[in-house]
Amino acid sequence: MSFENLWRDQSAIGRDAETGGYTRGGWTPTEREATTWFLDQCATRGLAVESDGIGNLIAWWGSPDRPGVVTGSHLDSVIDGGAFDGPLGVVSALAAVDLLRAEGFTPSVPLGVGAFVEEEGSRFGMPCLGSRVAAGVLSADKALALTDRQGVTLAAALEAAGTDPAGVGPSPLLERMGTFVELHVEQGRGLTPPVGVASSIWPHGRYRFTFEGEANHAGTTLMEDRHDPMLTYAMTALAANKQARLAGARATFGRLSIEPNGTNAVPSRVIAWLDARAADTATLESLLAAITRQAVERAERDGTTVAVVPESVSPIVDFPAGLRDRLVGVLDGAPVLPTGAGHDAGVFSAAGIPTAMLFVRNPTGISHSPAEFAEEDDCLAGVEALAAVLKDLAQ
Ligand code: GLV
Ligand code: MN
Ligand code: MN
Repeated sequence: MSFENLWRDQSAIGRDAETGGYTRGGWTPTEREATTWFLDQCATRGLAVESDGIGNLIAWWGSPDRPGVVTGSHLDSVIDGGAFDGPLGVVSALAAVDLLRAEGFTPSVPLGVGAFVEEEGSRFGMPCLGSRVAAGVLSADKALALTDRQGVTLAAALEAAGTDPAGVGPSPLLERMGTFVELHVEQGRGLTPPVGVASSIWPHGRYRFTFEGEANHAGTTLMEDRHDPMLTYAMTALAANKQARLAGARATFGRLSIEPNGTNAVPSRVIAWLDARAADTATLESLLAAITRQAVERAERDGTTVAVVPESVSPIVDFPAGLRDRLVGVLDGAPVLPTGAGHDAGVFSAAGIPTAMLFVRNPTGISHSPAEFAEEDDCLAGVEALAAVLKDLAQ
């Protein structure tokens, strides 16, 4: 099937009619529908699908009796995200298989199309949840105890989806991944031609800041008598922005939980999640230290407290230069660029699997938003580039 038809076929799954954005958290009905769509496409192509304990999938062209070349990405999304982040890599992988078959190409090693679960961590808060568990960098116990915003554990969500939590753990699929190539929409404005190759992924982390104060009446409590954790949080958010600018890094508070969350009460507690990223580990660490120091100083002035807990930290990933240069050679000197976005490719690379990434141009640089966009011609160039790379690696 052509890329255009494949793309259209899945484009309504999880799309909000009002915003045009996509919400497909791990193991939710919309994400399951996307997964069913993927399984149907694999069946249509006669690709045998293997699943691991947490539900990562690889569909094989050729018997996976020895390490193969795997491509693919994820089908889940952030809350109200774009159409391309994730699905573009899965749909392009299927389209590249179709293209290679139409050319009469037969891979000399098994060729796999992968879809990895809960890459965004939008439901359980842990980015690259499926690949982390598969690679053994997140234990089954810790993963299964993660909860979503309704307090549902991953273990319960898996059971509800018909998956036995006892099977969750390091994945046998990794042994079959001789090489991994993930195609992804570029998420900044760093790419001028339609297709590029990744050099590295910035180190990044998610940190939970809990600000505690004293609930009180909004009308009767004198301003000087308050212990308002919202103020401590607000100053911390400003400090994070300033410190990230000074360091050439990124810091974002994009999620808040406020108690009791009433208009006419000084809050008792504000929980705020910081997403921080930088080009190198030292900068990331000193950025977090500077933000934490300012939060603590402000808490002293406000008569509040602050506690900081890292929920996930992802080290820098430098993709192997040999494989990267091989892709650049196949693609006639495509540009090489780093990214501040996280990917399963980073987890697999850190686990020792030779890994590379292809990026498709994003004209506005907008991502994690309904406005995320890539031109159809650029997506087609991405499919051709991916097919050329797979052909080279699996000939
Ligand atoms: C995932 O896209 C991330 O970078 O958070
Ligand atoms: Mn994303
Ligand atoms: Mn992604």
